[in-house]
Amino acid sequence: MSSLVRFGVSINKGLLVQFDKIIGEKGYSNRSEAIRDLIRNQMVELAWEKDEEEVAGTVTLIYDHHVRGLSELLLEVQHSFHDLILSTMHLHLDHHNCLEVLAVKGAAREVRRIAERLISAKGVKHGRLSITTTGKNLG
Ligand code: NI
Repeated sequence: MSSLVRFGVSINKGLLVQFDKIIGEKGYSNRSEAIRDLIRNQMVELAWEKDEEEVAGTVTLIYDHHVRGLSELLLEVQHSFHDLILSTMHLHLDHHNCLEVLAVKGAAREVRRIAERLISAKGVKHGRLSITTTGKNLG
């Protein structure tokens, strides 16, 4: 376990007032936890920029399963990248629309690639890659 270090930060008063307002609205009880989260977010985003870094995330897709060939295509892509997919969840939102969520883990470059392939498929109404971390290198 890493030791705790205190440090001082010089900041423009107006900026600090805005920061306190924002973190209060988000529910942070103190500045320290908010600043720690900002630092962690920055580290996670930097990890995703390194192609070989192992990352984790979720791919969310909304699509109409009636679009011809789409379900088969999405399934085919997922089988091509089966080693990256930890789990999938498929929900039938209504008669037409499906919500599919894939939990993924692997090299950042590969995870981005499968997300792009799925999201760009014709008939996918909306898709989003949510990036996070395996947590291994984050204090
Ligand atoms: Ni469905």
